[in-house]
Amino acid sequence: MSSMNKLSATIRTFHSSAARFKKNVEFTAVRYPYLKRGNYSFLSDRHLGFFQSILSPHQVLTDEFNDLSGYNVDWMHSVRGSSRLVLRPKTTEEVGAILQYCNAQNIAVCPQGGNTGLVGGSVPVFDEVIMSLGLMDAVISVDELSGIAIVQAGCVLEKLETILHLNNLTLPLDLGAKGSCQIGGNVATNAGGIRLLRYGNLHGSVLGLTAVLANGQIMDCLSTNKKDNTGYDLKQLFIGSEGTLGVVTQVALHCPSKPTSVQVGFFGINSFDNVLETLRLSKQNLGEILSSCELIDASSWNCVTSLLKLKSPVNYFPFYILLETSGSNADHDAEKLNSLLEMLLKNGTIVDGTIAVDSTQATSLWALRERIAEALASEGYVYKYDVSVPIRQFYQLVDVMRARLEKLPIRCCGYGHLGDGNLHLNITSQEYSSELLNKIEPFVYDWVSRQRGSVSAEHGLGLKKRDYIEYTKSPTSVHWMRRMKKLFDPNNILNPYKIFPGTLNE
Ligand code: FAD
Ligand code: MLT
Ligand code: ZN
Repeated sequence: MSSMNKLSATIRTFHSSAARFKKNVEFTAVRYPYLKRGNYSFLSDRHLGFFQSILSPHQVLTDEFNDLSGYNVDWMHSVRGSSRLVLRPKTTEEVGAILQYCNAQNIAVCPQGGNTGLVGGSVPVFDEVIMSLGLMDAVISVDELSGIAIVQAGCVLEKLETILHLNNLTLPLDLGAKGSCQIGGNVATNAGGIRLLRYGNLHGSVLGLTAVLANGQIMDCLSTNKKDNTGYDLKQLFIGSEGTLGVVTQVALHCPSKPTSVQVGFFGINSFDNVLETLRLSKQNLGEILSSCELIDASSWNCVTSLLKLKSPVNYFPFYILLETSGSNADHDAEKLNSLLEMLLKNGTIVDGTIAVDSTQATSLWALRERIAEALASEGYVYKYDVSVPIRQFYQLVDVMRARLEKLPIRCCGYGHLGDGNLHLNITSQEYSSELLNKIEPFVYDWVSRQRGSVSAEHGLGLKKRDYIEYTKSPTSVHWMRRMKKLFDPNNILNPYKIFPGTLNE
């Protein structure tokens, strides 16, 4: 067993400030010339005058070169809009007044949270007005007894976590972007992350929410009841709707008790069969305390250790598994994890492994998994795929793509939420290449569809995956989704060009 060296601390905050966007990112409209601007109004002085009359000066940003660049470009540096206006409401009522006006004036709007989305959904495609929720960041109430937190949508996840911890509660979701992403963005994308295995997804944890519809109407679904069977559960429509049905302004979240004992193990494994065996035995032996089971392949490991210079306590292996337990009895949990480690080493399922002795070491082990996205982004352009596949086929797609792409990319790697059947297949090249893209898509989606998987397990469809919705959803489902969109947003002003292929008016 390796002993754990002192490892560097993780950095979990990602900024969408202008400073990050010195690199010239091609305009989306140029890169994808088949996208056509909808017949929306162009922003005029009259429109601007209205927004300035209902908001304070710092809530209306118009400086194209300084204020707006961070809002127009996504975290991946892969899409770029040309919005000339960012509005920063502070209340649900302000959101209502803005949308009512935009709807009446036929102005397209792109809602934006922390701008950490990975599918091009959070930035405008053309000149849509950006509605940034960042000033709506209040934690309204936290109740330890019921475990219910009520928050404004723009609250950054990490800030909410800190406050919950002070109340002996924790978040039911956790993700590498938590230093920047907002709870409203999480709800709008139905974010998954590293604790879904334990606490399920946001369709279960969100008890209620307030959403402002395209016409400015405020829909109050901010229930805090865990059980409520009075008709249709409309809040569910907004969870995962990616800003296309309404703007989420408040969320009531059911939060579990903060675990008093968190243990993290990191294992080196020689074959994918043994990865599956490790998962099986972990579920069997750790039972209710298992909170994460994440996979890292050698290429992803190589990327974080070489490009970000993170130290690994376990040497080179084809695969690594990061296991986390969360419970309430440190002795009991440590004994369980240690016995598992011993058993896996003894029967040869794993070859090397370590267990963090304190929270600093645990954080360092997590960095090896959570900073993969950042390491890959530093390599150049990333073709990012986030798929659900049956667990036995989890890694096959990476092998299939490597054989197909041969030496075209710099890297083709796989990592992800093994315990949830959610693979992150990532391919990198120095710069964006349409030749490489065409070799990957639609092949990759076709492959996933044949396994009856999902072409988007957690990141959503946004702009980048919208043309592939029917690889997972039936034509009848897509038809009813379109009808729902039409019902909620008849003028299609909310995040147009996203989720659905073509234009909604077709
Ligand atoms: P944004 O990126 O700003 O927006 C995302 C979408 O939601 C857009 O369509 C936008 O229009 C819409 N939206 C935002 N706020 C609102 C609102 N208040 N009302 C209505 N619509 C809104 N995702 C995962 O699921 N699991 C992970 O483990 C994970 N890890 C990540 C790690 C890194 C390093 C990064 C960069 C991203 C990761 N993501 C992950 C993706 C991303 O963080 C999530 O999708 C997150 O939920 C987006 O939140 P956001 O506030 O940044 O939203
Ligand atoms: C992750 O699990 O690390 C995120 O979903 C980001 C990514 O897919 O790279
Ligand atoms: Zn993920």
